[in-house]
Amino acid sequence: MHDITEYLAKNKERFINELTQLLKIPSVSADPAYSQDVINASEAVKASLLEAGCDTVEICETNGYPIVYGEKIINPELPTILVYGHYDVQPADPIDLWNSPPFEPVIKSTDVHPEGAIFARGACDDKGQMYMHVKALEFMVKTNQLPCNVKFMIEGEEEVGSENLGTFVAENKEKLANDIILISDTGMIANNVPSITTGLRGLSYVEVEVTGPNRDLHSGLYGGAVANPINVLTKMIAALHDENNHITIPGFYDKVEELSKEERAEMAKAPFSLENYKKALDIKAVYGERGYTTNERNSIRPTLDVNGIWGGYIGAGAKTVIASKAYAKISMRLVPHQDWKEITELFKTHFESLAPDGVTVKVTPHHGGQGYVTPIDNNGYKAASKAYETTFGKTPIPQRSGGSIPIVSLFEKELKSKTILMGFGLDSDAIHSPNEHFGVWNYLKGIETIPYFYQYFTELSK
Ligand code: BES
Ligand code: MN
Ligand code: MN
Repeated sequence: MHDITEYLAKNKERFINELTQLLKIPSVSADPAYSQDVINASEAVKASLLEAGCDTVEICETNGYPIVYGEKIINPELPTILVYGHYDVQPADPIDLWNSPPFEPVIKSTDVHPEGAIFARGACDDKGQMYMHVKALEFMVKTNQLPCNVKFMIEGEEEVGSENLGTFVAENKEKLANDIILISDTGMIANNVPSITTGLRGLSYVEVEVTGPNRDLHSGLYGGAVANPINVLTKMIAALHDENNHITIPGFYDKVEELSKEERAEMAKAPFSLENYKKALDIKAVYGERGYTTNERNSIRPTLDVNGIWGGYIGAGAKTVIASKAYAKISMRLVPHQDWKEITELFKTHFESLAPDGVTVKVTPHHGGQGYVTPIDNNGYKAASKAYETTFGKTPIPQRSGGSIPIVSLFEKELKSKTILMGFGLDSDAIHSPNEHFGVWNYLKGIETIPYFYQYFTELSK
């Protein structure tokens, strides 16, 4: 791919400025207060795709936020790459913990990003990573080097479960037909240790409600004589793990894929420092399922975590009260072969069975999705690996991630194609957290690497 570094050097400032403009739009899909901003972000993505050289770009309406679809078809005989990404972002809360306003991007350098990083909600997840693809296309089109066909599908509901994308994909199989799907919405080990994500975990997300007496009660007059929903809820949650931190839901592990000794040994070769891990999080010890390493716990093992818990009095001072209700939001990360709907049912049955007399329990499923594993013996992985070798000077390490992009397994089912996860973020980029950022180096490296993927994938497909 000739002159990509030159093109980058020339256009670097503009590439950063354009991303900055996109990051200023607070496209928070979870909060209806931002609905116009989410729509504005879809328009901005459309404009950028047209500018980059797509022949056609449409805003496809759904029952929720629109999907931006664009394409450049140069020759139907050539392979077609489908790029997926999302323009919606997580809520910025807690706002107080940001060092600069979440939708006013600034560049600051950090220990791992000495060249600077762009601080803003969505910088890494996923606007910055999605925009690398727009700029890579621009380069290939403007320099007449686009070697294949390309389609873009950028959605606005990823952070809220991609509810309408499934229908869109099922109804547009022809339009979305492709030879490989390419996504940059994950991470890599470190800037000097490139890796390609080969697995994602599935997800089951539920909300639980425990109801005791029909009204809040004086904790002196009634305390000790009736079930306190908060006491009960916390006890029920505690019972979901045993002393080895195994999950106690009957049948939960039945379909879990057990990795062979060899596979685990291979995984353990990835560079990892437990000391640095603890230091970065300011913890004295790690914690988790007995018999597994930290990297296994956060990728190949399923988990159950409370994401939020509330009830009773949390105002100033003290109020002596037994609340009528207590609530929690619980997520389970799942691994290959676990079916999220089945796990949700197992959770529901078990959780209800844990309730003592004197309370009622309601379990409401939210969203979920299947996990995913990419094979590494196909042209897609080989092309990606070669692309990283070219631009990083190192062979990337295949690595499973703990995060979830539920729609990936659906792509495989509906479109019958594999997904390659070329993520350029770092775990320390604080996605979903205050002070999210994306390294300027990573942003440019992504733009540099993607065109090589196109080139090698096209060559390998011949
Ligand atoms: N981009 C993330 C997922 C991710 C991040 C995977 C880093 C691997 C490494 C995505 O936007 C996300 O946040 N997914 C959600 C699930 C979704 C259903 C809300 C998640 O993983 O919590
Ligand atoms: Mn994402
Ligand atoms: Mn996310």
